[in-house]
Amino acid sequence: MATIGSDAATMDKIVALCKRRGFIFQSSEIYGGLASTYDYGHYGVLLKTNVKAEWWRAVVQERDDMVALDAAILMHPKTWEASGHLEGFTDPLVQCLGTCKRRWREDHLREQAAAEGADSDAELRCPECGGELSEPRQFNLMFETHMGPVQDEGSRVFLRPETAQGIFVNFKNVLQFARKRPPFGIAQVGKAFRNEITPGNFIFRTREFEQMEIEFFVPPADAESWHERWMEERMAWYTELGIRPDHLRLREHGPDELSHYSSATSDIEYLFPMGWSELEGLANRGDFDLTQHARSSGEKLEYVDSASGERYVPHVIEPSAGADRAALAYMVDAYDEEEVEGRERVVLRLHPRLAPVKVAVLPLVNKDGQPERARAIYEDLRRRLPAEYDVGGSIGKRYRRQDEIGTPWGVTVDHQTLEDDTVTLRDRDSLEQTRLPIAALGDELSDRLLAPWRSPKLT
Ligand code: GAP
Repeated sequence: MATIGSDAATMDKIVALCKRRGFIFQSSEIYGGLASTYDYGHYGVLLKTNVKAEWWRAVVQERDDMVALDAAILMHPKTWEASGHLEGFTDPLVQCLGTCKRRWREDHLREQAAAEGADSDAELRCPECGGELSEPRQFNLMFETHMGPVQDEGSRVFLRPETAQGIFVNFKNVLQFARKRPPFGIAQVGKAFRNEITPGNFIFRTREFEQMEIEFFVPPADAESWHERWMEERMAWYTELGIRPDHLRLREHGPDELSHYSSATSDIEYLFPMGWSELEGLANRGDFDLTQHARSSGEKLEYVDSASGERYVPHVIEPSAGADRAALAYMVDAYDEEEVEGRERVVLRLHPRLAPVKVAVLPLVNKDGQPERARAIYEDLRRRLPAEYDVGGSIGKRYRRQDEIGTPWGVTVDHQTLEDDTVTLRDRDSLEQTRLPIAALGDELSDRLLAPWRSPKLT
């Protein structure tokens, strides 16, 4: 068995696999597609749901200092004035004045030019046609719409560009009911929208995406140490779920890169096929947001210790991840190609907890009572964990399909099953086959799912 290459993933291969196996499709495809928007199919939904569930498990279920929130996407327009997004959530836009007329982010072009060794004051040209570029203009990334039947300034609302503000405006509500005191955090998962100038790289940068955000409120003096702790916690989350540590790094933002609210930010970057790129941002937002919303709303947004009477505006550490980007990174890291007995197979070596389907139950042949027996085993197993039953096509083809969607275990029902109530259990990565009684299957699979897991790509 020869591994063709543990870094065989290219973005084209990932896109093709996602389409071939129904993970992710171009949105509105029958109308020619809507640029940079994507729809998730069955396995894509299951994968992204597992990513989010693992995030909830790590940041809420397994901690004492976090509570959950689900705020509305549409918020009072004053939110975005106070947060600074109306004024500051902009990117510098330049347009090609040559033949192609394409629009670009000036900061991205400068980064690219610097990476290629150009002088920082060298004139930028259009990367597409070499044309001259316009002067940069600040472009606000928020999508606007109107609430109610009248479309005027008074009815203008925005689709939230980050879920974070829903947490800040609920700080007082949560503090009142959650019985928590700093250090404590509020976690939220939800859609965010940005009118990105240059979306691209499949689901890496889109105009509609899902965020998994934590706002962690701490006494001001402890902000730096909590920033450090969260960087460690979040790096560990990715590696425990199978990302190879040498494909992950922390990168501190330079002063010119910091968002308007941040005093320090580090990005967790992943080595995507297009190069090192942001997976998650970890910002120290100080007291910026609570102070701004307190000023704008007239509400006191602070913590008062009932015993000592001490009062202060907590500082905020924000680990902010993208669910789509994380799902993409897990797929890229898991993608593998190898040759088995002279045939090539594509396999997604996903952590079993992330895999859309945990076990496939397959009759060896579609006759002799095997399908009925396999179906009964499947119906029993699916009450315990996501399972799939497949009877169509050769056994080899069915296994290749399961390998491509990352199913870690396969149960084969054969003629011996009908004689002695045993089945074979196949491991996706080692291809080891174990014979075991049907009665032991459920416990065996549950144990395997809970066991610590290490990517077979790590030698
Ligand atoms: N509240 C802070 C915040 O929104 P951000 O760095 O702009 O910070 C956080 O976004 C994360 O959201 C990113 O690290 C990325 O994973 C995800 N994200 C941001 N913009 C995205 C986009 N256009 N498409 C997909 N994911 C995006």
